[in-house]
Amino acid sequence: MPDNLSVNIGKLRLENPVMVCSGTFGYGEEFKDFLPLRKLGAIVTKTITLNPRQGNAPPRTCETPGGMLNSIGLENPGLSGFINEKLPILKTIGVPIIVSVAAESGVDEFIKIICELDKFSEVLAFELNISCPNVGHESSTKKRLIAQDALATFEMVKKIRMATKKTLITKLSPNVTDITEIAIAVSQAGSDAVSLINTLIGMSIDVKTKRPKVAAVTAGLSGPAIRPIALRMVWEVYQKIKLPIIGMGGIIDTSSALEFFLAGSTAIGVGTANFIDPAAAVKILQGIKEYLKENKIKHINNLTGGLKT
Ligand SMILES: Cc1cc2nc3c(=O)[nH]c(=O)nc-3n(C[C@H](O)[C@H](O)[C@H](O)COP(=O)(O)O)c2cc1C
Repeated sequence: MPDNLSVNIGKLRLENPVMVCSGTFGYGEEFKDFLPLRKLGAIVTKTITLNPRQGNAPPRTCETPGGMLNSIGLENPGLSGFINEKLPILKTIGVPIIVSVAAESGVDEFIKIICELDKFSEVLAFELNISCPNVGHESSTKKRLIAQDALATFEMVKKIRMATKKTLITKLSPNVTDITEIAIAVSQAGSDAVSLINTLIGMSIDVKTKRPKVAAVTAGLSGPAIRPIALRMVWEVYQKIKLPIIGMGGIIDTSSALEFFLAGSTAIGVGTANFIDPAAAVKILQGIKEYLKENKIKHINNLTGGLKT
């Protein structure tokens, strides 16, 4: 079996570059009957917080043209629930586990979660979901998120960096004017990689009831509808920082995955597509293998940033 698919993300070596996105694949076990989980490059867990969260009131999702809106509200079993109920099953799967972490209260909560999970050898990397409210930064307005503030992002990632030697991936929000400013801050703060993009804020209205289709009114848009924006952002970030990029946003098939490599991604994440076809990620992986063979491309890394302009 030729090793033309393995990629490095910080200290993490993945056998192949196809991951599943946080929040779209549960904690792995939910999908075990639908695909050979061992074929995945990595599993990124649903984001966990220190304390369990019930999430938002329903309805929490709705379909939109070429995508979906979700406002799950970070429902998760909390750190202890994750360690006791989810990790024992996850570690039997045999693929790298990347734990997505968020904090409700600030950087100390991030550090507490990461220091605790650092002890588990099966947890190979952390993905920082920094789309949390900016509670600590003086210049912030009430509704600003850490991920929307370059200085707050820098300070937070720098402190978290000191708490672990494991691979740190920082997930960027597209709900900003210039995503490269945030990417540069993340890079300077010592993150090993960036993943992008998280969902775009949107909304949808039921004209019969005049009510929002998602109870929280605004929600995160994902799926093919956001792909052109995600690709543009990956391309912009690729030109500004040297870190590996995990590209995501509307990948549903091999062709859309390849677009992300050409724009500058080292690895890719499959998200909303998992709800349409739970085996989408392994089908995309197979398609990438065939593309490399047909086009006599020696290694997937040779495709990264290969866009001709
Ligand atoms: C139902 C749902 C739940 C999500 N939950 C999370 C989450 O917990 N943490 C996170 O970082 N991203 C979360 N995301 C965002 C995805 O990980 C991904 O960044 C985004 O959906 C774009 O990729 P896609 O268009 O392929 O879905 C969620 C997305 C969806 C659709």
